Amino acid sequence: MRKVILAVALLVMMGLVVGFYPGYVEKPVKDGLGPMAIRLDPRFPAPAYHNPLNWWQTHHMDVVNRGDFTQQDCLHCHQPQTSCNNCHTYVGVPEIVDSQ
Ligand code: HEC
Ligand code: HEC
Repeated sequence: MRKVILAVALLVMMGLVVGFYPGYVEKPVKDGLGPMAIRLDPRFPAPAYHNPLNWWQTHHMDVVNRGDFTQQDCLHCHQPQTSCNNCHTYVGVPEIVDSQ
C-alpha cells in the first residue's frame, strides 16, 4: 500500500514539474515570433549606417543622442511600436514617440 501511495505522489510531483516548468521567454528578435518581434516594412532596405547590424544595435543611441540623426529620421522606415519600443520596453529604455 505504501508503495502505491509513494508511486502516486511521485507521479503527481513529476506532473507538477512538467506542468509548471518555466516556459520559453520571449525576446525582441528581428522577424521573431510573438508581440515582441521586431518587424519592418520589407519595402525599406537597411541603410548603410546600420552595417554591421550588431554594432548598430548597441550604438544607435549614441548616434541619435549625438544629434547625427533625429528620431524622426528613423521613423521614416521604423514604426515605433513594432521596431523601437518593443525592444525599449524590454530593456527599460524610454519609449520613442512619433511626434508627427
Ligand atoms: C531606410 C530605412 C531605415 C532608416 C531610415 C532607419 N532604419 Fe533601422 N532598420 C532598417 C531595417 C530594414 C532594419 C533591419 C535590418 C536587418 O534585418 O538586417 C533596421 C534595423 C534596426 C535596428 C536593429 C533591430 C534588431 O533588433 O536587429 C535598430 C536598433 C534600428 N534599426 C534603429 C534605427 C535608428 C535609431 C534609426 C535612426 C537613426 C534607424 N534605425 C533608421 C531600416 C531603417
Ligand atoms: C534591439 C533592441 C533595440 C531596438 C529595436 C531599438 N533600440 Fe534604441 N536602445 C536600445 C538599448 C539597449 C538602449 C540603451 C542603451 C544604453 O543605455 O546603454 C537604447 C537607447 C536608445 C536611445 C537613447 C535613450 C536615452 O535615454 O539615452 C535612443 C534615442 C534610441 N535608443 C532610439 C531608438 C530608435 C529611434 C529606435 C527605432 C528606430 C530604437 N532605438 C530601436 C535598444 C534598442
